[in-house]
Amino acid sequence: MKIYYNKKELNIYVEDLKANKKTIGFVPTMGALHLGHASLIEKGLQQNDIVVVSVFVNPTQFDNEEDLVKYPRTLNKDAELLSTISKSKIVIYAPTVEDIYGDDVKSASFNYDGLEHEMEGRFRDGHFDGVGTIVKRLFEIVRPDKSYFGEKDFQQLMIVKKLVEKYHLPVEVVGCKIHRAKDGLAMSSRNTRLKPEYRIAAPFIYKTLNTAKEKFRTNSANKVTKWVESQFAKHDLLELEYFLIADIDTLKTAKRKSNKKTYRAFIAVYADDIRLIDNIALN
Ligand code: PAF
Repeated sequence: MKIYYNKKELNIYVEDLKANKKTIGFVPTMGALHLGHASLIEKGLQQNDIVVVSVFVNPTQFDNEEDLVKYPRTLNKDAELLSTISKSKIVIYAPTVEDIYGDDVKSASFNYDGLEHEMEGRFRDGHFDGVGTIVKRLFEIVRPDKSYFGEKDFQQLMIVKKLVEKYHLPVEVVGCKIHRAKDGLAMSSRNTRLKPEYRIAAPFIYKTLNTAKEKFRTNSANKVTKWVESQFAKHDLLELEYFLIADIDTLKTAKRKSNKKTYRAFIAVYADDIRLIDNIALN
């Protein structure tokens, strides 16, 4: 498994691929790879000659220093997992902070036509400036034909699409379905940090989303939201940060239901000090 630790070396490799008319799929990650990432990479392999996987814990998208410090860093294990998928068609780009940012570890500021002010944007200050900064930089370095993002971070997916549109970046952004554990918990690198009792409790999130979906057929967004809040108020271990139903184009909270719009329910929950997010398509 080839690992490039700096953009200069990766650039030589990318130049060679381009000269040979090979297509590049790109899966940006922060490492601690799991089956959710594997499904993005497999899709990338079906649609491209080579898949580049970046493994980089991006400091500028964390609003919480402790979360950044504790974020799992498991490059050797990640490379092992990737080599079980393909040894010859996947390469890793695992840069240092300096390779990406030089000595100026700062985000640029982005306007995503308001998408950044909703949901995660309200609770994670500067998060989407950090995401925009790193994703744009990685696209410039890797120069992929297609890039793959999971729908678990649905707002991120919409924001990356907006970034590509606004900056005319020559890459197709492909959204991929949420990969779940057998008990329904959405795959996340953070799941490995859940204490056993919280891991057992966590599938309640998806179960509640499914019931919320059922209820939304015959109830208003407001009524469903109140019901979800009441379920978490009774829960001993999981603390609801937000639940809301939003129009997928604007990500604005739905006030009145319209059958011309497409809605999704979004949720953020604390399981002890681990923040979990999930979402479900409603119509
Ligand atoms: O979704 C993630 O893991 C990160 O936000 C990303 C896209 C790799 C940027 O650091």
